[in-house]
Amino acid sequence: MDGFRNILTEEKEGVLYLTINREDKMNALNFATLEELREIFDRVMEDKSIKAVIITGAGEKAFVAGADIREIAELNEVNARKFAENGQEIFSVIENCQKPVIAVTNGFTLGGGCELAMACHMRIATSNAKFGQPEVNLGIIPGYGGTQRLTILVGRGKANELMMTGDMIGAEEALSLGLVNHVLPTKAEAMAKAEEIIHKIMSKAPLAIGMIVDCVNAVYLSEENGYQTEANSFARCVKSGDYKEGTSAFLEKRKPIFKGE
Ligand code: COA
Repeated sequence: MDGFRNILTEEKEGVLYLTINREDKMNALNFATLEELREIFDRVMEDKSIKAVIITGAGEKAFVAGADIREIAELNEVNARKFAENGQEIFSVIENCQKPVIAVTNGFTLGGGCELAMACHMRIATSNAKFGQPEVNLGIIPGYGGTQRLTILVGRGKANELMMTGDMIGAEEALSLGLVNHVLPTKAEAMAKAEEIIHKIMSKAPLAIGMIVDCVNAVYLSEENGYQTEANSFARCVKSGDYKEGTSAFLEKRKPIFKGE
Protein backbone atom coordinates (compact mmCIF):
# COMPACT_ATOMS: atom_id res chain seq x y z
CA MET A 1 0.00 0.00 0.00
CA ASP A 2 1.61 3.28 -1.04
CA GLY A 3 1.00 6.56 -2.84
CA PHE A 4 0.12 8.61 0.25
CA ARG A 5 1.61 12.06 0.73
CA ASN A 6 1.32 12.59 4.47
CA ILE A 7 1.44 9.04 5.77
CA LEU A 8 4.26 6.54 5.28
CA THR A 9 3.08 2.96 4.92
CA GLU A 10 5.02 -0.26 5.30
CA GLU A 11 3.76 -3.83 5.46
CA LYS A 12 5.75 -6.44 7.37
CA GLU A 13 4.62 -9.91 8.48
CA GLY A 14 0.93 -9.01 8.18
CA VAL A 15 1.28 -5.74 10.08
CA LEU A 16 0.64 -2.40 8.39
CA TYR A 17 2.86 0.32 9.89
CA LEU A 18 1.54 3.85 9.45
CA THR A 19 3.73 6.86 10.20
CA ILE A 20 2.10 10.29 10.22
CA ASN A 21 4.78 12.16 8.32
CA ARG A 22 4.58 15.95 8.71
CA GLU A 23 7.55 16.25 11.02
CA ASP A 24 8.11 19.99 10.43
CA LYS A 25 4.52 20.61 11.64
CA MET A 26 4.77 18.21 14.59
CA ASN A 27 2.74 15.74 12.46
CA ALA A 28 -0.36 17.94 12.82
CA LEU A 29 -3.41 16.35 11.19
CA ASN A 30 -4.55 18.45 8.25
CA PHE A 31 -7.60 17.57 6.17
CA ALA A 32 -5.51 15.74 3.54
CA THR A 33 -3.90 13.52 6.20
CA LEU A 34 -7.29 12.63 7.68
CA GLU A 35 -8.58 11.68 4.22
CA GLU A 36 -5.52 9.50 3.71
CA LEU A 37 -6.28 7.78 7.02
CA ARG A 38 -9.84 7.15 5.85
CA GLU A 39 -8.66 5.62 2.57
CA ILE A 40 -6.03 3.49 4.29
CA PHE A 41 -8.52 2.07 6.79
CA ASP A 42 -11.02 1.33 4.01
CA ARG A 43 -8.28 -0.73 2.36
CA VAL A 44 -7.28 -2.37 5.67
CA MET A 45 -10.84 -3.73 6.00
CA GLU A 46 -10.69 -5.30 2.53
CA ASP A 47 -7.08 -6.47 2.34
CA LYS A 48 -6.85 -9.99 3.73
CA SER A 49 -3.04 -9.83 3.91
CA ILE A 50 -3.22 -7.06 6.54
CA LYS A 51 -3.91 -8.51 9.98
CA ALA A 52 -3.11 -5.55 12.24
CA VAL A 53 -2.12 -1.89 12.21
CA ILE A 54 0.44 0.14 14.20
CA ILE A 55 0.27 3.96 13.98
CA THR A 56 3.09 6.26 15.02
CA GLY A 57 4.44 9.75 14.28
CA ALA A 58 7.58 10.62 12.31
CA GLY A 59 10.61 11.67 14.35
CA GLU A 60 11.15 11.70 18.11
CA LYS A 61 9.32 14.92 19.03
CA ALA A 62 5.67 14.24 18.27
CA PHE A 63 3.15 11.52 17.66
CA VAL A 64 0.66 14.16 16.47
CA ALA A 65 0.45 17.68 18.02
CA GLY A 66 -3.19 18.14 17.09
CA ALA A 67 -5.39 19.03 14.19
CA ASP A 68 -3.71 21.58 11.91
CA ILE A 69 -4.30 24.97 13.54
CA ARG A 70 -3.82 26.73 10.18
CA GLU A 71 -6.97 24.96 8.96
CA ILE A 72 -8.82 25.39 12.26
CA ALA A 73 -8.21 29.15 12.06
CA GLU A 74 -10.24 29.30 8.81
CA LEU A 75 -13.42 27.61 10.08
CA ASN A 76 -16.93 29.05 10.25
CA GLU A 77 -19.90 27.69 12.21
CA VAL A 78 -21.23 25.63 9.31
CA ASN A 79 -18.03 23.98 8.18
CA ALA A 80 -16.83 23.62 11.80
CA ARG A 81 -19.63 21.13 12.48
CA LYS A 82 -18.65 19.22 9.32
CA PHE A 83 -14.98 19.44 10.35
CA ALA A 84 -15.80 17.80 13.70
CA GLU A 85 -18.18 15.21 12.23
CA ASN A 86 -15.67 14.26 9.54
CA GLY A 87 -12.90 13.65 12.11
CA GLN A 88 -15.31 11.80 14.39
CA GLU A 89 -16.36 9.56 11.49
CA ILE A 90 -12.79 8.64 10.51
CA PHE A 91 -11.78 7.96 14.12
CA SER A 92 -14.88 5.85 14.58
CA VAL A 93 -13.82 3.75 11.56
CA ILE A 94 -10.48 3.18 13.32
CA GLU A 95 -12.16 2.35 16.64
CA ASN A 96 -14.44 -0.15 14.89
CA CYS A 97 -11.69 -1.72 12.75
CA GLN A 98 -12.02 -5.51 13.01
CA LYS A 99 -8.23 -5.89 13.11
CA PRO A 100 -6.20 -4.72 16.12
CA VAL A 101 -4.90 -1.13 15.92
CA ILE A 102 -2.19 0.09 18.32
CA ALA A 103 -0.86 3.65 18.62
CA VAL A 104 2.82 4.07 19.51
CA THR A 105 2.84 7.59 20.91
CA ASN A 106 6.24 9.22 20.76
CA GLY A 107 6.44 12.77 22.10
CA PHE A 108 3.62 15.32 21.87
CA THR A 109 0.23 13.59 21.68
CA LEU A 110 -2.06 16.58 21.80
CA GLY A 111 -5.54 17.57 20.69
CA GLY A 112 -6.46 15.58 17.57
CA GLY A 113 -3.33 13.48 18.21
CA CYS A 114 -4.58 12.40 21.62
CA GLU A 115 -7.99 11.82 20.00
CA LEU A 116 -6.40 9.65 17.28
CA ALA A 117 -4.49 7.64 19.88
CA MET A 118 -7.67 7.19 21.95
CA ALA A 119 -9.54 5.88 18.88
CA CYS A 120 -6.95 3.08 18.56
CA HIS A 121 -7.57 -0.13 20.52
CA MET A 122 -4.44 0.35 22.66
CA ARG A 123 -1.72 2.91 23.28
CA ILE A 124 1.98 2.28 23.97
CA ALA A 125 3.86 5.44 24.95
CA THR A 126 7.52 6.41 24.98
CA SER A 127 8.59 7.93 28.29
CA ASN A 128 8.96 11.37 26.66
CA ALA A 129 5.31 11.30 25.48
CA LYS A 130 3.11 14.19 26.59
CA PHE A 131 -0.67 13.99 26.44
CA GLY A 132 -3.23 16.77 26.51
CA GLN A 133 -6.33 18.35 25.04
CA PRO A 134 -5.16 21.99 24.76
CA GLU A 135 -8.03 23.18 22.50
CA VAL A 136 -9.28 25.51 25.23
CA ASN A 137 -6.15 27.63 24.62
CA LEU A 138 -7.52 28.26 21.12
CA GLY A 139 -11.05 29.12 22.27
CA ILE A 140 -12.43 25.76 21.13
CA ILE A 141 -13.02 22.25 22.51
CA PRO A 142 -11.92 18.81 21.33
CA GLY A 143 -13.94 17.95 18.21
CA TYR A 144 -12.75 14.52 17.08
CA GLY A 145 -14.40 12.54 19.87
CA GLY A 146 -12.03 13.65 22.65
CA THR A 147 -14.72 14.85 25.06
CA GLN A 148 -16.24 11.37 24.91
CA ARG A 149 -13.25 9.03 24.69
CA LEU A 150 -11.12 10.86 27.27
CA THR A 151 -14.00 10.75 29.75
CA ILE A 152 -14.48 7.03 29.08
CA LEU A 153 -10.77 6.30 29.53
CA VAL A 154 -9.81 8.44 32.54
CA GLY A 155 -13.15 9.28 34.19
CA ARG A 156 -15.16 12.48 34.45
CA GLY A 157 -13.11 14.44 37.01
CA LYS A 158 -9.70 13.99 35.40
CA ALA A 159 -11.17 14.47 31.90
CA ASN A 160 -12.69 17.78 33.02
CA GLU A 161 -9.39 18.86 34.56
CA LEU A 162 -7.38 18.00 31.44
CA MET A 163 -9.81 19.63 29.00
CA MET A 164 -10.57 22.71 31.12
CA THR A 165 -6.93 23.51 32.00
CA GLY A 166 -5.42 22.36 28.70
CA ASP A 167 -2.53 20.98 30.80
CA MET A 168 -0.23 18.33 29.43
CA ILE A 169 0.59 15.20 31.42
CA GLY A 170 3.59 12.90 31.11
CA ALA A 171 3.58 9.25 30.11
CA GLU A 172 3.76 7.88 33.67
CA GLU A 173 0.70 9.88 34.73
CA ALA A 174 -1.08 8.79 31.54
CA LEU A 175 -0.25 5.20 32.52
CA SER A 176 -1.60 5.64 36.05
CA LEU A 177 -4.83 7.13 34.62
CA GLY A 178 -5.34 4.24 32.18
CA LEU A 179 -4.87 6.51 29.18
CA VAL A 180 -1.99 4.31 27.95
CA ASN A 181 -1.35 0.57 28.29
CA HIS A 182 2.45 0.60 28.64
CA VAL A 183 5.35 3.07 28.81
CA LEU A 184 8.78 2.21 27.38
CA PRO A 185 11.95 4.33 27.46
CA THR A 186 12.51 4.67 23.70
CA LYS A 187 10.54 4.60 20.47
CA ALA A 188 12.30 1.39 19.40
CA GLU A 189 11.31 -0.31 22.66
CA ALA A 190 7.73 1.01 22.45
CA MET A 191 7.51 -0.32 18.89
CA ALA A 192 8.89 -3.71 20.01
CA LYS A 193 6.24 -3.88 22.78
CA ALA A 194 3.49 -3.02 20.27
CA GLU A 195 4.79 -5.75 17.94
CA GLU A 196 4.91 -8.30 20.77
CA ILE A 197 1.24 -7.58 21.60
CA ILE A 198 0.14 -7.46 17.95
CA HIS A 199 1.82 -10.77 17.09
CA LYS A 200 0.25 -12.42 20.13
CA ILE A 201 -3.19 -11.16 18.99
CA MET A 202 -2.48 -12.35 15.43
CA SER A 203 -2.05 -15.90 16.75
CA LYS A 204 -5.67 -15.86 18.02
CA ALA A 205 -8.93 -16.37 16.11
CA PRO A 206 -9.45 -13.27 13.89
CA LEU A 207 -13.26 -13.46 14.02
CA ALA A 208 -13.17 -13.51 17.80
CA ILE A 209 -10.87 -10.46 17.82
CA GLY A 210 -13.35 -8.56 15.61
CA MET A 211 -16.15 -9.52 17.96
CA ILE A 212 -14.22 -8.28 20.99
CA VAL A 213 -13.88 -4.93 19.18
CA ASP A 214 -17.64 -4.82 18.54
CA CYS A 215 -18.59 -5.90 22.06
CA VAL A 216 -16.20 -3.52 23.83
CA ASN A 217 -17.43 -0.63 21.67
CA ALA A 218 -21.05 -1.64 22.36
CA VAL A 219 -20.51 -0.79 26.05
CA TYR A 220 -20.41 2.87 25.00
CA LEU A 221 -23.12 2.95 22.32
CA SER A 222 -25.61 4.68 24.60
CA GLU A 223 -23.17 7.61 24.77
CA GLU A 224 -23.18 8.19 21.02
CA ASN A 225 -25.30 11.33 21.33
CA GLY A 226 -22.38 12.90 23.15
CA TYR A 227 -20.50 12.97 19.84
CA GLN A 228 -23.32 15.04 18.31
CA THR A 229 -23.26 17.41 21.30
CA GLU A 230 -19.51 17.71 20.81
CA ALA A 231 -19.79 18.58 17.08
CA ASN A 232 -22.53 21.15 17.79
CA SER A 233 -20.55 22.75 20.63
CA PHE A 234 -17.37 22.78 18.54
CA ALA A 235 -19.27 24.64 15.80
CA ARG A 236 -20.63 27.14 18.35
CA CYS A 237 -17.09 27.86 19.64
CA VAL A 238 -16.07 28.84 16.12
CA LYS A 239 -18.64 31.66 16.14
CA SER A 240 -16.83 33.34 19.05
CA GLY A 241 -14.24 36.10 19.12
CA ASP A 242 -12.23 33.96 21.53
CA TYR A 243 -11.74 31.34 18.80
CA LYS A 244 -10.40 34.03 16.42
CA GLU A 245 -8.14 35.33 19.19
CA GLY A 246 -6.94 31.86 20.27
CA THR A 247 -6.02 30.60 16.81
CA SER A 248 -4.48 33.96 15.72
CA ALA A 249 -2.42 34.12 18.92
CA PHE A 250 -0.99 30.62 18.27
CA LEU A 251 -0.09 31.43 14.66
CA GLU A 252 1.38 34.83 15.70
CA LYS A 253 3.30 33.09 18.52
CA ARG A 254 1.83 35.23 21.34
CA LYS A 255 -0.42 34.68 24.39
CA PRO A 256 -4.16 34.94 23.70
CA ILE A 257 -6.38 37.44 25.54
CA PHE A 258 -9.84 35.89 25.90
CA LYS A 259 -12.93 38.04 26.47
CA GLY A 260 -15.64 35.42 26.82
CA GLU A 261 -17.50 36.51 23.71
N1 COA B 1 -1.12 22.73 13.88
C1 COA B 1 -0.35 23.35 12.98
N2 COA B 1 0.95 23.55 13.17
C2 COA B 1 1.49 23.09 14.32
C3 COA B 1 0.73 22.43 15.28
C4 COA B 1 -0.64 22.25 15.04
N3 COA B 1 -1.43 21.61 15.89
N4 COA B 1 1.55 22.10 16.32
C5 COA B 1 2.78 22.53 15.98
N5 COA B 1 2.73 23.13 14.77
C6 COA B 1 3.83 23.72 14.02
C7 COA B 1 4.24 25.09 14.60
O1 COA B 1 3.36 26.11 14.13
C8 COA B 1 5.65 25.20 14.07
O2 COA B 1 5.57 25.55 12.70
P1 COA B 1 6.55 26.70 12.10
O3 COA B 1 7.93 26.13 12.28
O4 COA B 1 6.12 26.80 10.67
O5 COA B 1 6.31 27.94 12.92
C9 COA B 1 6.16 23.76 14.12
O6 COA B 1 5.00 22.93 14.15
C10 COA B 1 6.99 23.46 15.35
O7 COA B 1 6.22 23.80 16.49
P2 COA B 1 6.76 24.76 17.65
O8 COA B 1 5.59 25.35 18.35
O9 COA B 1 7.79 25.70 17.11
O10 COA B 1 7.50 23.67 18.58
P3 COA B 1 7.70 23.71 20.16
O11 COA B 1 8.62 22.57 20.46
O12 COA B 1 8.08 25.08 20.63
O13 COA B 1 6.24 23.40 20.78
C11 COA B 1 4.14 22.23 20.92
C12 COA B 1 5.63 22.15 20.53
C13 COA B 1 3.51 20.92 20.46
C14 COA B 1 4.02 22.38 22.44
C15 COA B 1 3.47 23.45 20.22
O14 COA B 1 3.76 23.39 18.83
C16 COA B 1 1.98 23.50 20.39
O15 COA B 1 1.48 23.93 21.41
N6 COA B 1 1.24 23.06 19.33
C17 COA B 1 -0.20 23.16 19.31
C18 COA B 1 -0.85 22.11 20.17
C19 COA B 1 -2.36 22.26 20.10
O16 COA B 1 -2.92 23.27 20.49
N7 COA B 1 -2.99 21.21 19.61
C20 COA B 1 -4.42 21.18 19.51
C21 COA B 1 -4.87 21.71 18.20
S1 COA B 1 -6.61 21.56 18.04
